[in-house]
Amino acid sequence: MGVKLGILGLGTVGAGTVKLLQDRTGRHPLLQEIEIYRVGVRSLNRPRAVELSAGVLTTDLEAIVSDPEVDIVVEVMGGLEPARSLILKAISNGKHIVTANKAAIARFGAEIFTAANQAGVYVMLEAAVGGGIPVIQPLKQSLSVNRIHAVTGIVNGTTNYILTRMQTEGSNFSDVLADAQRLGYAEADPTADVDGLDAGDKIAILASLAFGGRIHLEDVYCEGIRQVSKTDIAYAEKLGFVIKLLAVAKRQTSDNSQLSVRVHPTLVPQTHPLASINGVYNAILVEGEPIGQVMFFGPGAGAGPTASAVSSDILNLVATLKTSTAGLNPLLACGHHHYCQIAPIAELVTRFYARFLTKDQSGVIGKLGTCFGNYGVSLESVVQTGFQGELAEIVVVTHDVREGDFRQALAEIHTLEAIDSIPSLLRVL
Ligand code: HSE
Repeated sequence: MGVKLGILGLGTVGAGTVKLLQDRTGRHPLLQEIEIYRVGVRSLNRPRAVELSAGVLTTDLEAIVSDPEVDIVVEVMGGLEPARSLILKAISNGKHIVTANKAAIARFGAEIFTAANQAGVYVMLEAAVGGGIPVIQPLKQSLSVNRIHAVTGIVNGTTNYILTRMQTEGSNFSDVLADAQRLGYAEADPTADVDGLDAGDKIAILASLAFGGRIHLEDVYCEGIRQVSKTDIAYAEKLGFVIKLLAVAKRQTSDNSQLSVRVHPTLVPQTHPLASINGVYNAILVEGEPIGQVMFFGPGAGAGPTASAVSSDILNLVATLKTSTAGLNPLLACGHHHYCQIAPIAELVTRFYARFLTKDQSGVIGKLGTCFGNYGVSLESVVQTGFQGELAEIVVVTHDVREGDFRQALAEIHTLEAIDSIPSLLRVL
């Protein structure tokens, strides 16, 4: 046997990977050179979805990352610790790493990649973003000659599922979330998904690859979907949009010195390629020069798709280890050390959608217009079709405006006697 794997974790992704690696018929012949040497688990007594030879399963994860026989450590246990420590220990022992752990990479990437470069080993992470969708390797290799302008993705299946059902059924967020939890599409603690944090980790990783610099995760602006209402979804539809949780990384300034990296619910024109990505699916649109637009679409989670991504990284390493003579392949390794400058959200220039509840009296739209005008906010459309009880409902979509200016206009609008509330504020793609 050629290359020995030490797999950390045998949950959904770990078991899916073992299953794929054991069933080689019709797949790449290089898979025959891979040996599942050790699999680290928390308990030996749990029933398992896969069969392993005697002696492969162990609870001693530290021993796996120190074992001189292990060539590649496959970290599919998830979580921050002990995953981070085990990855670092494996690297210091000269092991290559394959990981699906977006949370650990987004937080500890600098530490992990610095250690890996010093040790002369690879850290592969195709499964960390977009599940089975190949997007990491294309950004590293096939698209690497392009000047990337923007990466815009639907990278969280749970929220895309919830928003899709809210749209097709006209249901409330909380009702769909509860049903999604019952059906197993959403976690019992849905925070990381619905508050945009999972998508934040993923766009930090994509931004780093697309723009060739490290990203401080705390600079990534994250807003989730809890405040998206069925009323806004219905208004968006009338105006020609769908609401999606987008993760965006974009060059913000013309001199390319600053990036905008953010996650927020967004009104997406119905004609945009990302508007038709529904249910649990993910898609990532990459825009660059000279390529133009390329979109990657597919299953963003699940045992089989994620195992496909993990195993492709393993195979890539096996092939590289067989052929390379000296040094790390710069298209596979991480070569950047500086941090990207990320602009504060107030500097973002975008269109906005806002919904106002106002007293139903003369001159209200004029007063709104005056406040917007005071801060240079130009309106693209103003709609007043509905009432909520005694209150008139007014929806506006702006032209491009600096977010800080728009928020100042809103602060002034809040002080108007005729304004009851501003229940919704969303960005428009
Ligand atoms: N929780 C993620 C999602 C799946 O809902 O897309 C794993 O990245």
